[in-house]
Amino acid sequence: MTRTKITVLCENTAGRPMGLTGEHGFSAHIEQDGKKILFDTGQGMSLANNAQVLGIHLGDVKTVVLSHGHYDHTGGLPAVLYPPRGVEVIAHPDIFAKKYAELDSPRGKEKIFIGIKYSRDYLEGALQARFNLIQAFKEIADGVFFSGEVPRETDFEQPDNRLKVEHNGKITDDPLLDDVSLLIETGEGPVILLGCAHSGLVNVMNHFSRQTGHKTFHAVIGGTHLGFLGGATQQLEKSMDALDEYQVDLIAVSHCTGQEAAAICYSRFKERFAFACAGWSKTF
Ligand SMILES: [Fe+2]
Ligand SMILES: [Fe+2]
Repeated sequence: MTRTKITVLCENTAGRPMGLTGEHGFSAHIEQDGKKILFDTGQGMSLANNAQVLGIHLGDVKTVVLSHGHYDHTGGLPAVLYPPRGVEVIAHPDIFAKKYAELDSPRGKEKIFIGIKYSRDYLEGALQARFNLIQAFKEIADGVFFSGEVPRETDFEQPDNRLKVEHNGKITDDPLLDDVSLLIETGEGPVILLGCAHSGLVNVMNHFSRQTGHKTFHAVIGGTHLGFLGGATQQLEKSMDALDEYQVDLIAVSHCTGQEAAAICYSRFKERFAFACAGWSKTF
């Protein structure tokens, strides 16, 4: 039976063992039948340290998947691409768009760059990244499925209108079509790994269900973006209902889920809930 180990390397908070660092971001390491895939890379300050503390050799990673082009998922790229060895980087073609967050400040609305802080030339040149930019659903390794663009279908999962993108000098709301997730077939059933779920958690589950034929999922791990919605909203309630409908046994969320939404999820799912902080690991 296939054995799959998923370890959270970067997250806003740090768990055990001693020496881990937290940072606003997400990264998870997937180990299955000798293949080692890194899903996201955090902000860049904790990836190398946490991998070392957890005994994970980033130099063994041959494939990196980026969930989207935000800084808190892509900042650690150099730590995994170095030493340069032609690591494949799989992502949606829109990851290099100029992305911003429009936030309130004492000076009024302020626009902050939140995209990838390295140029594609630098990543491909000095660090020899081999970008494999894919728009559609695809099996990228045996039993590992890349969601591709996720259709926005539910009416209760609305985009975060503080997130912006610049095209030809014009700034508009960012539809974040580059937001992708993974589905990994494991011995205990299909496991979904989310970066930020900007596409909407329910849209992601519906999409994977349609593409793979699965009617249930064993686990959902990662960032859900529910925390940016301000607590007990209709979206949070409907997302929790969908986790029940898909009979998810393990809801291991963190990052942009936020503490309030995570607490509400815990009070509903109890022993089915886990907080996937840096250092959290599970073998399926
Ligand atoms: Fe994001
Ligand atoms: Fe994020």
